[in-house]
Amino acid sequence: MPDTTPRGLTGLAFGGDYNPEQWPESVWQEDVRLMREAGVTMVSVGIFSWALLEPAPGAYDFGWLDRVLALLHDNGIRVDLGTPTAAPPAWFYRAHPEALPVTAEGVRYEFGSRAAICHSNADYRAAAANITTRLAERYGDHPALAMWHVHNEYGVPVSACYCDSCAAHFRRWLATTYGTVDAVNEAWGTAFWGQRYADLEQINPPRLTPTAGNPAQALDYKRFADATMRENFVTERDILHRLSPGVPVTTNFMTALSQCDSVDYWAWGREVDIVTNDHYLITDGRRTHVNLAMAADLTRSVAGGAPWLLLEHSTSGVNWQPRNPAKAPGQMARNSLGHVARGSEGALFFQWRQSRRGAEKFHSAMVPHGGTDTRVWREVVELGASLESLAEIRGTRTCADAAVLWDWHSWWAQNLDWRPSEDHDARERADAYYEALYDHHLTVDFAHPEADLSGYPLVVAPALYLMTEAAGNNLKTYVENGGTLVVSYFSGIVDEHDAVHEGAHPGPLRDVLGLTVEEFSPLLRGERVRLTGPDGSGLDADVWTEFVVPRGAETVWTYADGLTAGRPAVTRHRLGAGTAWYVSTRLGAAGLDDVLGRAGEDARIAPRADLPRDVEVVRRTGESGTCLFVINHTATDTKVPLETSGTELLSGERAAGRLAVPAGAVRVVRLDG
Ligand code: GLA
Ligand code: ZN
Repeated sequence: MPDTTPRGLTGLAFGGDYNPEQWPESVWQEDVRLMREAGVTMVSVGIFSWALLEPAPGAYDFGWLDRVLALLHDNGIRVDLGTPTAAPPAWFYRAHPEALPVTAEGVRYEFGSRAAICHSNADYRAAAANITTRLAERYGDHPALAMWHVHNEYGVPVSACYCDSCAAHFRRWLATTYGTVDAVNEAWGTAFWGQRYADLEQINPPRLTPTAGNPAQALDYKRFADATMRENFVTERDILHRLSPGVPVTTNFMTALSQCDSVDYWAWGREVDIVTNDHYLITDGRRTHVNLAMAADLTRSVAGGAPWLLLEHSTSGVNWQPRNPAKAPGQMARNSLGHVARGSEGALFFQWRQSRRGAEKFHSAMVPHGGTDTRVWREVVELGASLESLAEIRGTRTCADAAVLWDWHSWWAQNLDWRPSEDHDARERADAYYEALYDHHLTVDFAHPEADLSGYPLVVAPALYLMTEAAGNNLKTYVENGGTLVVSYFSGIVDEHDAVHEGAHPGPLRDVLGLTVEEFSPLLRGERVRLTGPDGSGLDADVWTEFVVPRGAETVWTYADGLTAGRPAVTRHRLGAGTAWYVSTRLGAAGLDDVLGRAGEDARIAPRADLPRDVEVVRRTGESGTCLFVINHTATDTKVPLETSGTELLSGERAAGRLAVPAGAVRVVRLDG
């Protein structure tokens, strides 16, 4: 069995992507000296080095990588070694131009960036397996090797290819998945618009069509593209397992990035030895630390609750968003330790030394253009020391209070064409409910709708448009056994083939919610609707309303105006030993706060009223005890009551009573007991 933690690391991992090939060898000596100064323990090497390692077909140059690994090893730095298969060399594409991916519009991408790969292409598959084999043969038992880093961020920037090899591969996938063309016709509802196929050979990828294509076909193509990338990962992984036994294999995920919605990380989490994630702050005006917490919680959940590793984030600004602000002083440490609080076994960055050339030269790094006499470098050195003092939390697990249901397939389905309103955005609802739970100071696990939920007092389903019968039954059992469920509108509408469930909406949720939905009535852009609460108070909502018919549920909030005036907007249904809430409109922060507060009472979750907004408290627990992470994202000093005394690990000082956490600071207290 391969290890599930990086080999040879005793504490937390700290480091970044190290790209020495961009620099003369004279710089390497300074690199390792600075790595030691900063307390770097592991670096990722060789992720994009295929063109250097195999400069011509079958001709290899491992000399430089031998020297890099020896240098790192001599300096006690562990190596996360990349397979360079996200960046095939120019010679490869000259020989195999059809390995370049094709868009749905039929345009073939060119060489000259990275990740231009058709994952069905047999020549690519053979070449990737070959370079992986060569690397594994050469470095499989290298003393510096901590883990293998396969490829890079599968799914971005190309999420699917629509070429002829993919078409043939898709047909094979359909044959395996469905058996017969009639089963495909049935699943896709091809009776509609005369789309019936007489033979699997007639089926193509969902390429450009004059108007909306078949939604079930598009959904299956997402599944196929995801499975195809996973096949290639598994091929590389198995080569590494065979030739480098025991060494853990990972590939870096981007779990919560909305730009990377094409990978079903539930499935991928089962294939890697260590779950690793890349996270970058999306600076679009929203609270970046909330999105960070969500990404970390989702990554931990994909890892089944086990520790995981943050393989990339940034020391300061990135360079690929429309506007790329620098991080504020102290923000990098809050970010890194925020991930650690939620289960990461360290913090690594893209990248070690800021490039002078190439597309990412304006992306921050651990060693900035300005060198070591810089704020970023000083904060990097400080972070290295902080992580060193947290070594004991290795192997401990983050404790969650509630679960949010999450399913990539449902997200894919909701984003297909011709839905009731383009203003409804499944991801926006997931973010909003997560943020509301965050503001209640609840730590969240994400769960697949068919997973065992019995450990959670509160479960929230933000927008689960696609829901199987099995998931519906699972939620019913959960509530009957005493759970509290909150479901947002447009959930439980279709099955796994995007076919509307039989009978009234929401098919598999009717019984558990105690209601039916007769009609959706999305609002026009900018239109708002008023709700009246149980005590006569008012709320605004927008985007979506529904004609809800209670069939056992009680009405809590009522529509006060609009087409649905007088009908239920938010309902509550007692079922067995539990309660199920339904929210039929898009509530803002105040509305979500109200509903989750009431649902929290049903779930008997005590609110942490003693914590200011944006002061994050998370605990990790294990054999070594419990550590409380307190992250003050505000500009105000604060004090957080401790349930017992303890030791603050970053400073080594004793802590008791009310823990002082200055503005922008992080404290980690190992509680006595
Ligand atoms: C991704 C990639 C890295 C780098 C960073 C920049 O995470 O994996 O190679 O491009 O983005 O933010
Ligand atoms: Zn292709």
